[in-house]
Amino acid sequence: MKKPLFVTLLFVVALMQLNAQDQKMNAFINALMAKMTVDEKVGQLNLITPGSDIPTGSVVSSNVEKKIAEGNVGGLFGVIGPDKVKQAQDIAVKQSRLKIPLLFGSDVIHGHKTIFPIPLGISCSWDTALIRYSASVAANEATADGLNWAFSPMVDIARDPRWGRVSEGSGEDPFLGSAIATAMVKGYQGKSLADKNTLLACVKHFALYGASEGGRDYNSVDMSKMKMFNEYLPPYKAAVDAGVATVMSSFNDVEGVPATGNKWLLTDLLRTKWGFKGMLVSDYTSIGEMVNHRQGDIAEVSIQAIKAGMDMDMVTEAYLGTLKKSLQQKKVAIADLDRACRLVLEAKYKLGLFDDPYRYIDAARAAKEVLSESNRTVARKIARESFVLLQSDYKTLPLKKSSSIALIGPLANDRSNMLGTWAVSGDPQKSVSVLEGMRNVGGNTLKIQYAKGANITDDPNLARQANVFGMRVEIDKRHPDEMLQEAVSLARQSDVVVAVVGEASEMSGEAASRSDITLPASEQKLLKALYATGKPVVVVIMSGRPLVLTGSIEGAAAVLQTWHAGIEAGNAIADVLLGDANPSGKLSMSFPYSVGQIPVYYSQKRTGRPIDPNNKFSTKYLDAPNEALFSFGHGLSYTNFVYSDFRLSSNQLSKQQSIQVEVTLTNSGKYDGAEVVQLYTLDKVRSVTPPEKELKGFQKIYLKAGESKKVSFTLTEEMLRFYNPSLQFVSEPGEFTVMVGGNSKDLLVRDIVLK
Ligand code: BGC
Repeated sequence: MKKPLFVTLLFVVALMQLNAQDQKMNAFINALMAKMTVDEKVGQLNLITPGSDIPTGSVVSSNVEKKIAEGNVGGLFGVIGPDKVKQAQDIAVKQSRLKIPLLFGSDVIHGHKTIFPIPLGISCSWDTALIRYSASVAANEATADGLNWAFSPMVDIARDPRWGRVSEGSGEDPFLGSAIATAMVKGYQGKSLADKNTLLACVKHFALYGASEGGRDYNSVDMSKMKMFNEYLPPYKAAVDAGVATVMSSFNDVEGVPATGNKWLLTDLLRTKWGFKGMLVSDYTSIGEMVNHRQGDIAEVSIQAIKAGMDMDMVTEAYLGTLKKSLQQKKVAIADLDRACRLVLEAKYKLGLFDDPYRYIDAARAAKEVLSESNRTVARKIARESFVLLQSDYKTLPLKKSSSIALIGPLANDRSNMLGTWAVSGDPQKSVSVLEGMRNVGGNTLKIQYAKGANITDDPNLARQANVFGMRVEIDKRHPDEMLQEAVSLARQSDVVVAVVGEASEMSGEAASRSDITLPASEQKLLKALYATGKPVVVVIMSGRPLVLTGSIEGAAAVLQTWHAGIEAGNAIADVLLGDANPSGKLSMSFPYSVGQIPVYYSQKRTGRPIDPNNKFSTKYLDAPNEALFSFGHGLSYTNFVYSDFRLSSNQLSKQQSIQVEVTLTNSGKYDGAEVVQLYTLDKVRSVTPPEKELKGFQKIYLKAGESKKVSFTLTEEMLRFYNPSLQFVSEPGEFTVMVGGNSKDLLVRDIVLK
């Protein structure tokens, strides 16, 4: 299509303005760098934390104030709030020779003080507009509190739920993950970084961190380039394309070289091929950890990192201690140091810190806008949208507000686990428990009796590890049998049981891998006793990962997966249980049938011996199905959605001619509700073995009871491309299958030909 002349002109004018801005920035930074000593340049690369908040490694920094005054610090993290930030910024701009302002970072991961559901939960909303909005709310709060850099989004594709950090990402699929990565970056960074309520986003962990062997955190990673490009790299690339300002490297190695010092990854791919122009930061002590990776001593790994393209050194202070000498010894070129220093200064310039180093400190705005009622309302809405109804008998839920409910479980009257992992600035005591939420939403007619019923775990070792950041697992003084009996007797007196079980917040997250991801034994025992009462039992599961639920939920009338749902968890859960909202979440990560199946994900390949119950020598387990218990895309509703009139505008696709894919969605049930319509494709003959299904599009559609709507997608040739062994992004002519439906299993199917 030809662009009208005035559009082209507008584009040229915008480009000229951009160039002029860049030139102004370059001139400013050139002048500044001309004044800087080598020590001062190295100082800009130093990112440290005084450890006033949660350190995630064993090391925290010392003599922070002195280092700032001496120009040895480029940025801080873990310093939060108008007063503390001002205090530190004062030292930088009043006492250091060149008065260069500091960056202030933090792990703003799923909200700042208004804590949203954990990212894995948010991703199950499949609502990119809402996700983007949540990031803008987080940025608005964080910037009022003095911060200008969020270490988010975490976009690591993860297919092993033993890995605790699956909680921080968007699950198993590169297409959904990319859409969310884009939304988050745009939400944080807004229209301009210079605005007072936007901040630098930081996509992490580059790269492949989610594929650590055995799901054990910090473990090695090894995969083919084809798998990287097709399945693991797309969300990072999407963040770069969305203009992400900074990138954090990962702890793992990539093809045998630690990501933090991997030149192919950081420079050849990220900068040269993808065109990333921003700043790179290492993960917490990951430069120093290259010594453990057996890459050499601290001076050698620092050389390796800076030459690979790594700009900022988080916490190790390896650059600070070694780079000057390495320069003198000509082991590092001044050009490498200048590049890194320039990129740090550019980030500060783009934020407007050289105009006003205090621009992100706004106590008045913080008092008014942080954790405001309207932000809590957003948190409640996102939480409701993140819940996935895994199983339902279609008669127990929603609960009647006139019923009598036995609310049972170690997470039913709990605030300390609602926020989930990585809620650095969140206050658990400001969160709403399920018991409180049920009372708020249920009103006077609802009769609720509560009993704890069991401990989250009776295992003191697991409890101790879950309690590192505060009390999350409280082992009751009573004997477990006494607690169980109390719960069973309440259950017997009620119409229905709601059992709230799962993981404590710190049983997932960083350094929280588990080899057994079933519900803890104490909770399994509780559920069995509740089922035995014969009352309908609604199981509400809170967790930071897909758990293995086989054997624990068969007796349940309904199962609602709520993740760790954030500050409004209890209200949102009550909204859904009591029918004020209809669940609409769809899984972004499959729930395995058993741990032995892992990794299990929807986009697996067919193999040369596809599963065949009549063939012993087909690909299968003797003791478990091949399929997940609940697959990617799955999620039920109180209402019923029917797909019909699946039509394609043509069955021939070409580079010039796209196809319109159309389906009619009808809400044939009794409740208003939302459905995520999903589009998948299969390349039926390909030079390299294809996945059986790949997500290529989705739309979240709201329909009133009885309403119908035509939903359409445009399918283009480009959507059928993949990275071939030479890493060219190509499509191969031939037959494809196009599939549409409400999950990754039950799909309407049509074949097309790509010419
Ligand atoms: C984590 C990062 C985090 C950093 C700073 C590390 O341990 O891997 O995700 O941003 O700590 O807190």
